[in-house]
Order: sequence, then C-alpha cells, then structure tokens
Amino acid sequence: MSNDLKPPTSRAQFATKIGAIATTVGSAVGLGNIWRFPYEAGAHGGGAFMLCYLFFIFSIGIPVICAEFILGRGTRSNIFGAYRKLSPNGKWYLAGYIGIVASIMILSFYSVVAGWTVEYFVQSAIGALDLPSQQHYHTHFDEFSTGNWRPMIWTLIFLAMNFVILMRGVTKGIEKASNVLMPMLFILLLIFCINSLTLDKASEGVYFLLHPDFSKIDSTVLLGALGQAFFSLSLGLGCMMTYASYFNDKTRLGRSATMTAILDTIVAVLSGIIIFPAVFTFGVSPTAGPTLVFEVLPSIFHKLPGGVIWSTLFFLLLFMASLSSTISMSEISIAFFTEEKKMSRRKATILNTVIAMVLGSLCALSFGCLGDFKIFGMTFFSLFDYVSSNILLPTGGLIVSIFAGWVIDKKLLRDQMTNNGSFRFKALWLITFCLRYVAPTGITLVFLDSIGLI
Ligand code: PHE
Repeated sequence: MSNDLKPPTSRAQFATKIGAIATTVGSAVGLGNIWRFPYEAGAHGGGAFMLCYLFFIFSIGIPVICAEFILGRGTRSNIFGAYRKLSPNGKWYLAGYIGIVASIMILSFYSVVAGWTVEYFVQSAIGALDLPSQQHYHTHFDEFSTGNWRPMIWTLIFLAMNFVILMRGVTKGIEKASNVLMPMLFILLLIFCINSLTLDKASEGVYFLLHPDFSKIDSTVLLGALGQAFFSLSLGLGCMMTYASYFNDKTRLGRSATMTAILDTIVAVLSGIIIFPAVFTFGVSPTAGPTLVFEVLPSIFHKLPGGVIWSTLFFLLLFMASLSSTISMSEISIAFFTEEKKMSRRKATILNTVIAMVLGSLCALSFGCLGDFKIFGMTFFSLFDYVSSNILLPTGGLIVSIFAGWVIDKKLLRDQMTNNGSFRFKALWLITFCLRYVAPTGITLVFLDSIGLI
C-alpha cells in the first residue's frame, strides 16, 4: 500500500487469511450458483452457455476481482471513497451509484428466491415435500409461488433476518458462519452430484451441460453468460471492493481472487451436474426458467434414502448461503450511507432493509397478482434480474477494469498484488493485460453485439 493511503485505524479487519477467503466465497457462493446458473444454462442451450461462462470467469472475472481487491484494500474505502481517493477530480466515483442501484435491485429479487428456500426448508422439515411424481412437484411449487401472501411474507421475513445479522457488525457474525457453512454445503453438493450421476438419463444431462454446440452461441447467450459470471462472482458493484477494504495487509490478493473464482465455479458446475441429469430423467424442460431448480430438486431428494433429512439440510444450507450473499450486497449501500452520508449504522441498515422490503414485495408478487404487469415485456422480478446482472454489473466491471488498468498509478497495482513487494507475483503482467485490454474490449463487444450493433 502506498504511504498516503494508510487505513483509518477505526475500520474493522478480518482476523485471519481463511476469514478473508471464506467471506468472499460466502458472498460469491449463493443462489447465483445453485439457482441462477442452472436456469440460465438451461435457457441458453447448456454447453454453449457453459463454455462462454467459463471463458468470461477466467478472462474477465478473475482480473476484475483483482481490480476490486486492489482498489478496496488500497484505499480502505467503500466504492465511492475508493474512486475519489484515487482520482479526486475525476467523475469515476459515479460508478458507485451503479453499485448502489444494482445492489438494491439484486437484494430485492434475491430475497424472494431466498424466501422460497425458507418455505422449502420448512416444508421439507414437516414432511410436506414428499410427493408422488414430478408433475406434483411442479404443481406444488406453482401453487406456492403464484399465491400472493406466502412468498411475500417469506421475502419480508428473510429481509428481517438479514437486518438482524447486519446490525451485529462486519467481522463477528459473517466470518464465523461462513467458515463452517460453506464447506458443509460443498460436501452436500458433492453427495448429490454423485447421486444424480446414477440417474437413468444422467448421461443426457451431462452431455447437455458439457457439450458445447457452437451454433447456439449468439448475442443472448454471450450476454447471459457475461451477466451470470458477474452475478455469480458478486462483481461490478463494489461488493468485493468493500470486502477487500477489510482485508489485512498479508492477504494475497491474486491468490484470494483465483480461489474465490475457482470455488465459485466448482459450485455452479456441481449444481449443474446435479440438476440436468434430473431434468432429463424426470422429463422437465431445461428452459423452465427461475422455477426450474425448485421443481427439480425435491424430486431428486425424494429418490434418495432418508430424503427428508437431505432436503431439510440442503435448504437450510442454501438459505445460509443466501444470507451470506445478501449480507455482502447490503454492505454496499450501508457503507455508502454510513461513510459517505454519515448516517448511523442502525439508520443505514434500516433504510437499506425498508427499500428492499418494498421492492422485494413487488418482485414476490411478480409470480402472482403482478404477473401481468410488465415493463419492457418483463415482470418486476425479471426486470430487476436482467437489468442488474446483464447491464449494471458488466458496466461496473467495465469501469473498474479501465480505472485499474489505465488510470491508477501502476505502483499501487504492483504494491497491492505483491503486498508491497514481499513476494513475487508472476501473473502481474497477465492481470494488467486483461484489465487493460481483454476485459474492456470483451464487455464492450458483448454489449454492442446484444444491441445489434455488430
Ligand atoms: N454472487 C452471489 C450469488 O451467486 C450474488 C451476489 C451478487 C452477491 C452481487 C453480492 C453481490 O449468489
């Protein structure tokens, strides 16, 4: 860290190296991997989507995580402060507003799905998810999600739980919980994965997910995969930046970025390998959309010996994984309100929660009474999802990569990536190259392609 950018001592820091990685993984791993990845992959042709997704994770995702880490730890600030400290006269800090809007939009629709998870946790626990056929699971979920009250109430309850955890501060709650829960979730996914591979049409499912049909790669697949990469890695909105501002000086940024991306990707791929064999075996359409996973998973659990226990445990862990993600997205606006607007943490957290409760209710009702209310042909839920993931996050990523690649002092980049020269970081040139050229051109080309300009 350059000398003029010393951390204000009052800011909390993560106690351990593992703590730093576990919390960024805790932010990254969530419904994005287990719920959103399979439905996006299913809707966009399976293997073709997967290939583009992997390409974006490695060529754009990892460098952009590094950029966010560099800015966050280098300035010990939230997204606004980071841009302002490094470019006091520039307008770069405006990217912070993209982050705030994106984080609130995501928190709103994400809480709805997290609410579904809580409902399914309760239903598993009381044995109400034991149904005779796939068709029953379909109807069951449909009746629940289109009914107005229950999904909305769960959304609100989820946001209230998120609120309580946020009030307890940064390091305590999050760090401890992530350390235990993420490995547990991982083990559970591995077990389900092995089970899915024994299903009748496992090979069809795996083929669908892993075999790229190049003719299917078009602008929607590219934009969808880019958006999914950003969403899944919690990138482009300053989330990783805020977390990195709590890293200690010994955390190796390159290693943490790569670990986070790899673990996140493994979880997404595992989840695909769990879902698609089941999709083909039970005759569900891979293009079912946001409801896909909730219709298919219970069928998988039903076939497992001791299914009730597995499914209860799974929905509980998925709920926890969602919480560690919503906590991280909430921290963006909370850090903004407290550090930029000088609000108390309590007030900032209440404000964040109230906004998300109002918008979250609209998203929850998108499957029920607001189903016909469309803006640009999309319900509130899909609009928030589409705009945040496919437009705002990649735009935030474009800005941060240009800023880190071209604007800031190269010394800050080097100092941060090598912890002030305390070790050699061989891939520095590669990260710099990707930030300067690959990420900005890649994101711009996908944007131009999707609006039909190329
Ligand atoms: N990455 C999280 C997930 O995959 C979602 C998220 C997006 C979290 C943006 C924070 C910020 O579930």
